[in-house]
Amino acid sequence: MDQGREPDIEVGLVMEWVRQAGRIALRYFNRVEGTRKADRTLVSKADLEIEELLVAHLQSTYPDHGILGEEGTSDVHGEYVWVIDPLDGTRAFLSGLPVWGISIGLLWRGQPWLGVFHLPLLGDWYYTANPAAGAFWNDKPIHCPLPAAWDEDSLLCIPADAHLRYSITFPGVVRAMGSAAAHLCYVARGNAMAVFLDRPAIWDIAAGAAILRAAGGVLRYLEGSEVLTGGLLKEGSSLKPMVGAHPSVIDMLPRYIQPVGIF
Ligand code: IPD
Ligand code: CA
Ligand code: CA
Repeated sequence: MDQGREPDIEVGLVMEWVRQAGRIALRYFNRVEGTRKADRTLVSKADLEIEELLVAHLQSTYPDHGILGEEGTSDVHGEYVWVIDPLDGTRAFLSGLPVWGISIGLLWRGQPWLGVFHLPLLGDWYYTANPAAGAFWNDKPIHCPLPAAWDEDSLLCIPADAHLRYSITFPGVVRAMGSAAAHLCYVARGNAMAVFLDRPAIWDIAAGAAILRAAGGVLRYLEGSEVLTGGLLKEGSSLKPMVGAHPSVIDMLPRYIQPVGIF
């Protein structure tokens, strides 16, 4: 693949690597303890082994591409940058809860392009090869639906600690399943109406943003501007909260999510 051309990546190959990663995760599930990193977030042997596996595959298959991983891989350069979250939802994983998965995305010229998110315990796959190819849940095409109405069943997915920093008055239900990547995929598939992300890291959203975009959804900063994922490759974490939803819904979300207290 020449630098400068649209990526032409075999998504099935990436899924095979992620399948191997899923087996590692399942081997450790309910059998491993976490430790806290300097930023107080959790990591386990499973996170580290999975990142090592995916980086090894990427380096041997795409030696010219950049790679960024949550657990220490930092080789960002060029137009093609892979972004790995070896386990998104580590806290849920270490608590024996079901919603966590392996997330790998490819940014092309800073834009989310390819994305694979796999929830091994549930057997679920979400993926897109590129924005024009559409998004898939297992083998079925998915589309972020135009919500017919907002009612008491409309779902907003939020971070588990959102109540500490935000007043959320969404007129439906809110759930925190434990994985930002899963939340983005649930919006892409229409299981949830919207997702709120509190200053996510680029690895939380790289795959999910590609999947949501390919399914027809949008990701914005809560204050309304476009999310520039390319910039996040340098910054790591976003300084601003984000929302994702169908384009017809996105502008209505900020009124229901208000920051409170001190960050
Ligand atoms: C976390 C999950 C969670 C989000 C946190 C992330 P991790 O990722 O995506 O949904 O609320 O901000 O840190 O740490 O389990 O990879
Ligand atoms: Ca994460
Ligand atoms: Ca992680």
